[in-house]
Amino acid sequence: MTSAPAKNATTTDSDLELARAYAEKLLLLSQGSVDKHFDPFTDIDWDNPDYAVTADDPRWILPKSGDMFARHAWYQGLSQARKIEIGMWRQANIAKVGLQFETLLIGGMMQHTFKLPNGSREFRYCTHEVIEECNHTLMFQEMVNRIGIDVPGMGPIIRQLTYLVPPLASVFPNLFFMAVLSGEEPIDHIQKGILRAGEQIHPIMRGVMAIHIAEEARHISFAHEFLEHHVPQSNAVNKFVLSLAFPIVMWIGGRAIIVPPRAFFREFDIPREVRKDVFFGLPDSRETFAGYYADVRSLAKRIGLLNPVSKAVWKALRIDGPGTRYRSEPDRPGQVRAA
Ligand SMILES: [Fe+2]
Ligand SMILES: [Fe+2]
Repeated sequence: MTSAPAKNATTTDSDLELARAYAEKLLLLSQGSVDKHFDPFTDIDWDNPDYAVTADDPRWILPKSGDMFARHAWYQGLSQARKIEIGMWRQANIAKVGLQFETLLIGGMMQHTFKLPNGSREFRYCTHEVIEECNHTLMFQEMVNRIGIDVPGMGPIIRQLTYLVPPLASVFPNLFFMAVLSGEEPIDHIQKGILRAGEQIHPIMRGVMAIHIAEEARHISFAHEFLEHHVPQSNAVNKFVLSLAFPIVMWIGGRAIIVPPRAFFREFDIPREVRKDVFFGLPDSRETFAGYYADVRSLAKRIGLLNPVSKAVWKALRIDGPGTRYRSEPDRPGQVRAA
């Protein structure tokens, strides 16, 4: 994909038109990165006295709007002190998982850009995105350091993705950008849900989330555009494989983001049933999880990745349901699994 697609023996006028439209969109996204970007050390007021981290600050209690664990009766029945203690650990750990996820993404994007030709607009946009993601990892790590708990982030098995995801980008870029969406979509949904609900949260969390949401909108748009442009060019066999991989990748990535590692349950003596309830069993949890992927389901439909077999996979993983009318449409009650 170059800035001036040229016609050759195998391209048609409509191919050229699509390539030009894609290049235009990438230029717009790149300009967006130039016009509006953040620096975690100048745009977050870390040393403001109100941002101080103390162990008795109720603003660390987990917000119900963004955390299915916070909505569970077990958490709600704890003392305020215990809710704060668990809230600090969980929020620090989510930041750590976020930064590990971004690191995988940065590694993969660099593998992808290494092979791109001169003039490629994908090169320019992806490099802007990597710079933003590097800033996000700095911001998330600073948050973890300030909270001061030595959290692990992802569990030991899921951490092995570090050997799989970056090389995936150079061999199977479509699959890689699906993996990108599998993490970016749930994080974005959770953060927007918290800010929209207006619940009290710690100002460090608020500052970090505001920056993240603003820049992730571009990243998510790019992953959608990338798949929308490249997947239809695949042959029928590859397309079929991608159609099955899509829901599986969403499920694995989403679980890696929302389910805390075993260390969390050990640290706070959380009963096994609570873990099963919260992340796998309760209708509220299943509906929330499936809701993270409404935009992705619309994308799957648009790019021809919904067929009877892949639909059965979405359903078996319990992440099926209707799509959205437009990207980033807020969840509507009863939207998920209603159709
Ligand atoms: Fe990010
Ligand atoms: Fe991102």
